[in-house]
Amino acid sequence: MQELEPSPVDDDPPDIETGDYFPEPMSTAAGQPRSFGISRIGLKPHSWDYWLSAVQRYSTYPPTVFFALHAVNTSLIPLATRSLPSSDSFLLLTRPIYQSPSLEPVMVALPIVAHIVSGIALRSIRARRRAKKYGAERRSQRYQIKSWPVPSLQAKLGYAMIPLLGLHVGVNRIIPLEVDGGSSSVGLGYVAHGFARSPYFWNLFYILFVATSVWHLVGGLATWMGIRVTTIRTERGSISKTAGILGETREERDRRRRNKWLVHGIAGLTAAIWLAGALGIVGRAGSGSSWEVTGWDKLYSSVPVIGEWL
Ligand code: HEM
Repeated sequence: MQELEPSPVDDDPPDIETGDYFPEPMSTAAGQPRSFGISRIGLKPHSWDYWLSAVQRYSTYPPTVFFALHAVNTSLIPLATRSLPSSDSFLLLTRPIYQSPSLEPVMVALPIVAHIVSGIALRSIRARRRAKKYGAERRSQRYQIKSWPVPSLQAKLGYAMIPLLGLHVGVNRIIPLEVDGGSSSVGLGYVAHGFARSPYFWNLFYILFVATSVWHLVGGLATWMGIRVTTIRTERGSISKTAGILGETREERDRRRRNKWLVHGIAGLTAAIWLAGALGIVGRAGSGSSWEVTGWDKLYSSVPVIGEWL
């Protein structure tokens, strides 16, 4: 038995979502919190939540640099030059930063995979923790207590981004790599040729893709900056669009609403500018010269299943 000091009622109860609710499990042998052997080299031990949250967060930094460069190349420069050949030279200039064999996986592919996998792992850990808290053992019991947290709008936008980004990367990077062995024939002209071949499809696709991605990226960066607008935690079946957060002062509520509109405003403006360049300039440039077009047609029709429509 251990004698404890009397303490006041906890105003800030531990958070089940972040793992604070459960004390760090002790390993019977050493009496130390369960960690990854890091304490042995002098670092503070942390829970899975800590490491997964860190991976989910820091994995977004390198792709953010890529997305910023990409927005400049595919929107701001075409808007400024109004010419695809001049804009393409800027695109070629920045390619070594994100398309070299050593940098591409580190800047784009691996961090995005790490970001998605860590998010799903965190969700699964939290679902198990909730099931454990309520003693739900069978699948039906877990379903009854709705152990899986409802994905926030931020997470839903993230899941929607996967097929959209997949198609974009597939058509513009993977197919040229497979067919031509590289991206040397691909640039804004290739994208413009796609618009000319299938205007309804590509206009609709880029509106959806740019809006979803920009909202996810801007909302996500705002979350990392501590402005939690899109990731308010909600229990399944208890979502209320009008209810505020319990215990919130009027000032805090006003600040939260101001921040929410600020983030939506920045996302809306960024998406509008990106689309103005992508649809207004690239999307209306038309097809290229006949020798270019032959190669590009071959690339579009090599896309499996939907190649005929693109
Ligand atoms: C590069 C900038 C990015 C930032 C700042 C960012 C930010 C975030 C944040 C804050 C969350 C947590 C949502 C929550 O807790 O409710 C999240 C989740 C998610 N993100 Fe991103 N993200 C970025 C890029 C991407 C990309 C490129 C993809 C995929 C194509 C993606 C897919 C996802 C998915 C699927 C989730 C949900 C994971 C879960 O189940 O919780 N994100 N992102």
